[in-house]
Amino acid sequence: MKIGTPKEVFEGERRVAMTPESALQLQKLGHECLIETGAGAASGFDDAAYAAAGVEVVKTAAALWQAADVVAKVRAPDDTEMKRLRDGQTLISFFSPVADEAKMQAAAKKGATVVAMEMIPRISRAQKMDALSSMANIAGYRAVIEAGNNFGRFFTGQITAAGKVPPAKVLVVGAGVAGLAAIGTSTSLGAITLAFDVRPEVAEQVESMGAEFVYLDFEEEQTDGAATGGYASVSSPEFREAQLAKFRELAPDVDIVICTALIPNREAPELWTEDMVAAMKPGSVIVDLAAEKGGNCKQTVMDEKIVTENGVTIIGYTDFPSRMGTQASTLYSTNIRHLLTDLTPEKDGVINHNMEDDVIRGATIAHAEAVTFPPPPPKVAAIAAAPKKETPKALTPEEKRAAELAAFKAQTKNQVILLGVGGALLLAVGLVAPASFMQHFIVFVLSVFIGFQVIWGVAHSLHTPLMAITNAISSIIILGALMQIGSGSGLVVILAALSVFMCGINIFGGFLVTRRMLAMFQKS
Ligand code: NAI
Repeated sequence: MKIGTPKEVFEGERRVAMTPESALQLQKLGHECLIETGAGAASGFDDAAYAAAGVEVVKTAAALWQAADVVAKVRAPDDTEMKRLRDGQTLISFFSPVADEAKMQAAAKKGATVVAMEMIPRISRAQKMDALSSMANIAGYRAVIEAGNNFGRFFTGQITAAGKVPPAKVLVVGAGVAGLAAIGTSTSLGAITLAFDVRPEVAEQVESMGAEFVYLDFEEEQTDGAATGGYASVSSPEFREAQLAKFRELAPDVDIVICTALIPNREAPELWTEDMVAAMKPGSVIVDLAAEKGGNCKQTVMDEKIVTENGVTIIGYTDFPSRMGTQASTLYSTNIRHLLTDLTPEKDGVINHNMEDDVIRGATIAHAEAVTFPPPPPKVAAIAAAPKKETPKALTPEEKRAAELAAFKAQTKNQVILLGVGGALLLAVGLVAPASFMQHFIVFVLSVFIGFQVIWGVAHSLHTPLMAITNAISSIIILGALMQIGSGSGLVVILAALSVFMCGINIFGGFLVTRRMLAMFQKS
């Protein structure tokens, strides 16, 4: 089939849905690729690069829309492009099916198939096609860079001959894809980074990135996101109040606020209120990524940068991914390429629009002359539900001591029973087994017991580093190899030397991997 990408018509849009690299991959699926002349210029891909990758460069948008069986683009089609969309054609782009319902109806009526990139379900298998995430990742990174550009100080703290510079304090509100990218960028620039999210399960992720999770002194059955396709749901008014109180406390102290909090298909919640802006120091910066949905800060002006009376800069740009056109086009075109790989299962250049496939079904909003939006909920939960923690009841000191004594007694009783049963079994085996067997058997039983006790005492999250260290320690067989290396036989010496070499890799590699893994768990 012919896959065509026109030049984006939205003013200022620099991204392009096909790069020379993605075109090469699409051709491996048996497709032919077309591009409108100049489509990749703003992202740094010229016509010659496309031609060198075997892409046919078409002179006009009209000719491209006419020739292509599948049109892949970034922004939703405008009115002219809607007129060009034809029966049997497939359009792959962002589409906003809720806001652009009329266009969706029109596309279905024409008999075109529309795949809306923002509708790709957030399930593990679809991550490689998740354009919302790849764009949000760029937005989070760029938000911090943009904040730095408007902030008059260093991010990192410094002690210089000219004086001491304190590190900047960055607060990231919402630790979804954009938020986590912002946290990563901010910590790597050396700022003290705080982050908050309504989903408690992200705290560990935030902390592993070197940021501090802002906990609230509030108990609520919080959402885990599993039931809502990986997104947060609306929190209670009491929770919101506790959250705002915490933000009010932080406002005078933070230099940069990156707002990314959003619940899909809703207005952005107001989280950074006017009084918080007023409490911030002059020179502070707010980057509101939720500007398109009304902003987490209501003073944000969409697509603009403003400076408040007290000298706080508020940035409300909605085109962060486009501001990094080359990177955004590379990631977006890869998302499209993966989607087309799923749509071309036989790699024979024939599109098989399988509506039984969760991902394809989820993202298709018009097919076979019918509107297919909204899709049924995905069959796979996006995130494994976090186990519910029971809040322990507060105990008096006497009750606590009594409970500890009872637990100790129960544990001792179990241990005595286990020892008794184990001893009896050993005696029974010893009655019939030869002495040499018993010696090995006792060592075996003891090693199983000690191994079990050691592993049982280690937190689950540390089992992988434990495996790595055990792997390193198991290379104790190096001792055997060392003993044999002085042997008279040449073959034995070669084999022993090889064993020493391989065990060496295992030992040093194992310790190195363990160190790296443990570093991930260490709080800075
Ligand atoms: P996401 O859904 O992965 O993350 C949003 C996060 O906000 C979630 O972790 C959610 O739990 C959290 N959240 C929701 N309500 C909250 C509340 N009341 N308090 C604290 N946290 C709350 O979304 P993603 O992909 O990270 O995108 C974030 C935002 O960035 C969206 O608004 C998106 O539209 C916007 N965006 C903006 C761009 C721009 O150029 N301005 C480009 C790309 C994305």
